[in-house]
Amino acid sequence: MKNAVGVAQPRVEGRAKVTGAARYAADVPVPGLAFGVVVLSTVSRGRVLDVDVSAVQDMAGVLGVIDHRNAPRLDPAAGGFFGPDGQLQLLQDEVIPFAGRPVALVVAETLEQARTAAEALPVTYDEEPHDTAFSADHPASRPAVTIFDEPVDVGDVEAELAASSVVVEERYRTPEEHCSAMEPHSATAWWEGERLEAIDSDQAPFSIARTLATLFSLSPDLVHVRTEHVGGGFGSKGLCGPQLILAAMAALLFGRPVRVTLTRPQVFLATAMRPATDQLVRIGADADGRLRAIHHEAAFEISPLVEYLEGCTELTKTLYAARAIRTRLSAVPLDILPPYSMRGPGAAPGSFALESAMDEVAERLGVDPLELRLRNEPVTGPVSGLPFSSRNLVACLREGARRFGWDTRDHRPRRRREGALLTGTGLAATSFSAGAFPSSATITAEPDGTFTVAIGATDLGTGARTALTAIAADALAVGTERIRLRISDSGLGPAWGAGGSRGTTSWGWAIIEAAEKLRAQGCRGTVTADTTGSLGGLPARERHSFSAVFAEVTVDPMTGEVRVRRLLGMFAVGRVVNPLMARSQVVGGMIGGLSMALHEEGLRDPVSGRHVNADFAGYHIAAHADVPDIEADFVPDHEPGIPMGVKGAGEIGNVGTAAAIANAVWHATGVRQRSLPIRLDRVLE
Ligand code: MOS
Repeated sequence: MKNAVGVAQPRVEGRAKVTGAARYAADVPVPGLAFGVVVLSTVSRGRVLDVDVSAVQDMAGVLGVIDHRNAPRLDPAAGGFFGPDGQLQLLQDEVIPFAGRPVALVVAETLEQARTAAEALPVTYDEEPHDTAFSADHPASRPAVTIFDEPVDVGDVEAELAASSVVVEERYRTPEEHCSAMEPHSATAWWEGERLEAIDSDQAPFSIARTLATLFSLSPDLVHVRTEHVGGGFGSKGLCGPQLILAAMAALLFGRPVRVTLTRPQVFLATAMRPATDQLVRIGADADGRLRAIHHEAAFEISPLVEYLEGCTELTKTLYAARAIRTRLSAVPLDILPPYSMRGPGAAPGSFALESAMDEVAERLGVDPLELRLRNEPVTGPVSGLPFSSRNLVACLREGARRFGWDTRDHRPRRRREGALLTGTGLAATSFSAGAFPSSATITAEPDGTFTVAIGATDLGTGARTALTAIAADALAVGTERIRLRISDSGLGPAWGAGGSRGTTSWGWAIIEAAEKLRAQGCRGTVTADTTGSLGGLPARERHSFSAVFAEVTVDPMTGEVRVRRLLGMFAVGRVVNPLMARSQVVGGMIGGLSMALHEEGLRDPVSGRHVNADFAGYHIAAHADVPDIEADFVPDHEPGIPMGVKGAGEIGNVGTAAAIANAVWHATGVRQRSLPIRLDRVLE
């Protein structure tokens, strides 16, 4: 029997997707469907004075309007990792905590009728002064609540900085960024007696069904959420979204199935975003390039409605050896959309700061930035002192450098011209935490010789179905054609969501345990495995994916335009389950990093506090013409502490690319870019 894991396979649902047979949440036909359109607050802080329902209730097709006066009461205990989550408490009172907060849902027979009435619905506000201006020294700044990425102090940072030959001390800034999945958030809900049924576009049907049950004070077994095909999430679909809560409310009040699909601007305004960050990095080094001290302090914005942590300093505890390391995280509460995980949360903005600063250290020392990284390769965890379960960063750096042609680089800036263009190259090293969380999987040996493998996983388009099919086939020692995989359903038992780069590790672990149990009983009947205990929660291990990213850019000094000409990433992500899907995943991540480096920036009008570019015309994302040839590959790697030796390739591609590009822009121009995105005006300054 040939192994399926490790073999490049196209998506098992690929044909269904390209022929249009695959249905996304808003495509599924449901009889008797009504449509809800959300109305969002236009003010950043205040109270709803009035929602004039009489102005729209006689419009064609309108079934009614839900606002804070008639909405079903929700349980305020509903929440997530950080406790109760005020963003779930929709239409519960007249208070407006940010522009974009839903204030009403208009329900009608057709989508067009609901939209027309929603646009006509008069909402008046009692507006209060708002504060949406983020800065690290904001008076409301406070230490972040940490459930990971705790502040650390190793050694004496000040003494080591004082003893250093070279000290770099700079601030790095990243703006609000939006997940921008291709498929907007959509949910359809209906009640079957006491049972709440929903079709949703999300990353975690099991935990979202649990949240929904709490919100509506239902026993968890009465709530059923399905999420068959999902057109991306990037973090923004990890939570119980407004579309689902409002659809469930409307289905309850109007006694029929209701579909709520957010418009593109509503996805920007009402779902989730990466918070703006302002980071201080101080690095001290000896003349020979050995680091004495790393001090990394990150401030990020939050909403008082929801606790959240942008763990910018996590990789600072992993990447380099230094005698002293200090990290701090602070949160600045503002009247903004509550931030949440997006595309390599923490690590993506954190690595921009740390890896830009490392490049500045190399510049000041006059050493090769690659050599600087190699000289500071730690033997054990720089903060924990614990051994790395596996660490192949050096292999990523060396192999990446070889393929990129790094050894011929002249490290001096602003030396290369091609006609009117300046050219330059840069690199960054990265890490991303790896782990696995408990899930349950059920396998049934069918009479026809096939195996039904059921697990509450989600495929965001990443290839989870394909990867899990291969894992199940190998675990049962059969061909993939004998595996019938069932996923995307909260009824399939507890399962970790598609997030934290822990989908494949968590779900694969449960599938392997179930397969072992089934084989132990002669491959007959049905078994369920529930992987209790948490590999991801073990404190004493240094478990990470690693990568090295190389970039080549051209800069037009007349216009300030930066174009990325070449990107190369070498990754150590443990065993690669499917090289085709994994490559696609990390290339997608690198494009996300390119987009972060050059384009993405949520902008606010300081007067209204509102997002002013909440659509794809105003919020730029890297498009085809922005993306060069990208080379991505994997060094041999194996994670001994996780079943199958997998670490996960979900998000690490998003990390490091922005710093590699910023460092290449410095190499081209001789000017540091310490604020993202690297806009034309910033290059011209
Ligand atoms: Mo991901 S940003 O952990 O959904």
